[in-house]
Amino acid sequence: MDDIKNGGVQAAPISLSPRAVAFCLLHPPAGCYAERVEAHSKLNLVLVGFMGSGKSTVGRGAAAELQTRFVDMDRVIEEREGLTISEIFSLFGEPSFRQIEAEVAEELSREKGLVIATGGGVVLRPSNLEHLARQGILIHLRVNLEGALARTRSHSHRPLLRGEDAEQRARRIFAERQPLYESIPHHVDTTNHPTSEVVAEVVRLYRQEVARRKSKFKKIS
Ligand code: S3P
Repeated sequence: MDDIKNGGVQAAPISLSPRAVAFCLLHPPAGCYAERVEAHSKLNLVLVGFMGSGKSTVGRGAAAELQTRFVDMDRVIEEREGLTISEIFSLFGEPSFRQIEAEVAEELSREKGLVIATGGGVVLRPSNLEHLARQGILIHLRVNLEGALARTRSHSHRPLLRGEDAEQRARRIFAERQPLYESIPHHVDTTNHPTSEVVAEVVRLYRQEVARRKSKFKKIS
């Protein structure tokens, strides 16, 4: 049982394949340990942060560095629904979008070895973070409001940042979400840092956490 606490988010046990279970039974405890080390090295890297924090750009860079697959949750939602995020908001409303987002978070938490860029509102449901932390390491990309507004100003695809009261709304949701983002166990500052530096720091933190979990398991096995 992997009982690592992730800022209030309990990591779930690692699931083993039938082949791994058979190997464990034949070669205890070394076989089980080998399989669990392998499972740890396939932990997902999950990027969380406000709109404009750079999750997709940094995620693509981190996936290239780790030689693994990159997945953008918003793109998964769009493909699944056959609609853009803006269309989902305007046709069905934000609550429906949040429901689809929760289903996709749950689905992705069953995958391994991914770099996942979440949508900025994924923190609104604690169960999303619980699911994503099961097989993943959560890292918050910290951005200040001015930085986020500057980076998103020229984009029109974010429904929450459109309309006359967009800036006021952004200020309000930014303030409301800060405690949620700060509850994530790992943080990387992005304001005034070039993407290459942020990617390097994210990858360093991810590798450090993978190594920490491996050595923790070694000690208790
Ligand atoms: C949202 C962020 C967006 C997208 C949707 C809602 C939010 O993703 O999921 O527009 O509530 O913060 P990005 O953070 O990738 O812009």
